Amino acid sequence: MPVLMGLRERFERDKPLIDLQVGACLHVTKETAVLVETMALGGAKVALCGSNPLSTQDDVASALARFGVNVFAWRGQTSDEYYDCIRSVLAYKPKVTLDDGADLVSTIHRERPDLISGMFGGTEETTTGVVRLRAMAKDGALKYPIVAVNDAQSKSLFDNPLGTGQSALDGIIRATNVLFAGKDVVIVGYGRVGSGIAERAKGHGARVTIVEANPINALRAAMSGFKVTTMKDAARCADILITATGDLNVVRKEHFMEMKDKAILANAGHFDVEISKPDLEQIAVSKRRLNPCVDQYTLKGGQRLFLLAEGRLVNLGCAEGHPSEVMDLSFSIQLLSVEHILKNRGKLRPTVVDVPKDVDFEVARLKLQAMNARIEELTDEQKHYLASWEMGTG
Ligand SMILES: NC(=O)c1ccc[n+]([C@@H]2O[C@H](COP(=O)([O-])OP(=O)(O)OC[C@H]3O[C@@H](n4cnc5c(N)ncnc54)[C@H](O)[C@@H]3O)[C@@H](O)[C@H]2O)c1
Repeated sequence: MPVLMGLRERFERDKPLIDLQVGACLHVTKETAVLVETMALGGAKVALCGSNPLSTQDDVASALARFGVNVFAWRGQTSDEYYDCIRSVLAYKPKVTLDDGADLVSTIHRERPDLISGMFGGTEETTTGVVRLRAMAKDGALKYPIVAVNDAQSKSLFDNPLGTGQSALDGIIRATNVLFAGKDVVIVGYGRVGSGIAERAKGHGARVTIVEANPINALRAAMSGFKVTTMKDAARCADILITATGDLNVVRKEHFMEMKDKAILANAGHFDVEISKPDLEQIAVSKRRLNPCVDQYTLKGGQRLFLLAEGRLVNLGCAEGHPSEVMDLSFSIQLLSVEHILKNRGKLRPTVVDVPKDVDFEVARLKLQAMNARIEELTDEQKHYLASWEMGTG
């Protein structure tokens, strides 16, 4: 993670986060460890919990605890344990929050409104979190500013399609060792994440079908050479079905009933609500755990459906999440957004705010440098031309 390690040198030297109490709710992976250690070396006191009951890497949690971070996370939590860990982080009275899915921020607003007056701001890592926070802001319910890290271009153009594209397939392959070549793969949702997964599945030799509700994204999928159809139609052909919508009950009873024997079901969206587990439980005559990542549901008609990672994020539940190279971008944006919040303490409105353009560009420039890529500098004449209207057809 060369960009983040470069920033670490400055943070360790200048201590811009000195004595800042940070509360973080993030997937506890080795990349998160690099971010959290960097903040600690910059002077912050960090309390950390996992942002998913199944995504914590226990060895990383243990290493962070030894480093001096207050960690409340382990793999395989119940829902009650998950929220207890969030409450434990809030007991440290954070001034800045880092969230991935908005469970930390929503718990503060629901259970600890006493913390809000002391809060400088927060950051949000993922699309679903930003969607929830914008809904809170629209209702006038969001009481402190949150920087939408997800929406920075150097995050969402790379992390969402490339990080999830690769790691979702990695999770499915590690869990099942299935061959993608020659399979019918259905991707539900052709947004930033789904389009990345679709390209990678195509690259593995799969026949890819897209289910999409937004006409523009559906058209993008069709023009990229994918078959585009409804969920009901696609369910019948799927050997492997992957959801990436951020939506609720996109695959449900009527779809399960139509599916082929031995179809694999995986979710890459933030919450475990995209593939309806209640419906699956209801229509299954038996359920058997084949390995820690695969549950086999047998339906009345005899079809066996394989659900991966209990319908939670397959790339984190069955593999290690995004590669470090891509998290270098996302977490450098996170770190600089925390610095932005501190520099603008008291000036940001209590709503969802954008990552400043200069921060976004700076992270992209540093990454290019680390990759030994050079970009073109515009001449003064070109800058003037691009900002003017007078010159037309010659
Ligand atoms: N697994 C990971 O590591 C990871 C990484 C980044 C984002 N995410 C999550 O992935 C999800 C998608 O994120 P994104 O950035 O691609 O969002 P996005 O908004 O770019 O794309 C979502 C797409 O799903 C479509 N959609 C919504 N409901 C649908 C339905 N019922 N049927 C068909 N299509 C439907 C939308 O029209 C949209 O095109 C979010 O929950 C996000 O938080 C996961």
